[in-house]
Amino acid sequence: MNHKVAFSFADGKTSFFEVKPNELLLDAALRNGVNIPLDCREGVCGTCQGRCESGQYTQDYVDEEALSEQDLAQRKMLSCQTRVQSDASFYFDFDSSLCSAARLEEKSGIVTHVEQVSPTTAILYLDASFDARQLDFLPGQYARLHVPGTDAKRSYSFANRPNAENKLQFLIRLLPNGMMSNYIRERCRVGDEIHFEAPLGAFYMRHIERPLILVAGGTGLSALLGMLDEIAERGGCTQPVHLFYGVRQVAELCELERIHDYSARIPHFRFTPVISDDDQLWEGKRGYVPQHFDGAELREVPFDMYLCGPPPMVESVKSWLQEQELNDSNLYFEKFTENAT
Ligand code: FES
Repeated sequence: MNHKVAFSFADGKTSFFEVKPNELLLDAALRNGVNIPLDCREGVCGTCQGRCESGQYTQDYVDEEALSEQDLAQRKMLSCQTRVQSDASFYFDFDSSLCSAARLEEKSGIVTHVEQVSPTTAILYLDASFDARQLDFLPGQYARLHVPGTDAKRSYSFANRPNAENKLQFLIRLLPNGMMSNYIRERCRVGDEIHFEAPLGAFYMRHIERPLILVAGGTGLSALLGMLDEIAERGGCTQPVHLFYGVRQVAELCELERIHDYSARIPHFRFTPVISDDDQLWEGKRGYVPQHFDGAELREVPFDMYLCGPPPMVESVKSWLQEQELNDSNLYFEKFTENAT
């Protein structure tokens, strides 16, 4: 027997469709034109997640990186792994427009500029304006770029918000011998065409209803710049926004002017850079980012934390949150590894 399912979205819209016996929810949604964002289809990336609000369901496989035990207890689910056993309703905390527009697409852009913004970081600027249709993605998501002249693909978060001109930015960490790093250093020229797939990833800014804590490690800043650009473009938000930015050395801090500019554009914006190396000239915060969270302040009001950085940073922040038992707050994170760049 088919079951009736409702998908409701953050903008208040709802889609209804039928699910065949034993059919995966994602397949049923796609068959009915509800294009939920997806990536792995294997229960690992977490991109297709929502929350079941009523009805019975089972999930085939859920990787602990995609949903935690706490998430599962809150009936969060992965559409690509869910089968319904009754009529059911699900909630997705993004706008319904994303489901009609944001299918994974093959695109390309022309290099207009490469700017080295620190000894270890460059910003790659692409112009994809020859495509009249705006590339839709959510601030925080990423694209998989093909490294020109090779078969390699590397993933980078968009460092700006979606825009009608399709002007795109990516922060690129320059590794001693990375495929993309070597291309940027040695062969990249204005006018080069770079192919990419986008949008990808479950790390994106949800509706802002609570104070925001944004935590960047190294070039993890890229995704958070996209979110901050979006908030600034909207004229700010009703909630305080605090950006923590951890790097090893002072020289690795980049886009500081842009970050300070957010102070003028986003009310109640705070910025805390943290340096982990022992740098005698640095007068700001030292050590690791979680050492500078204010537990008492964070306990006052539940918050949404967005964290993008290397795995040790993600793990240390998760441990800190668990120790503090800040269970009413939400943590959204994206881990990246250097060999992925
Ligand atoms: S698409 Fe990756 S978990 Fe469903």
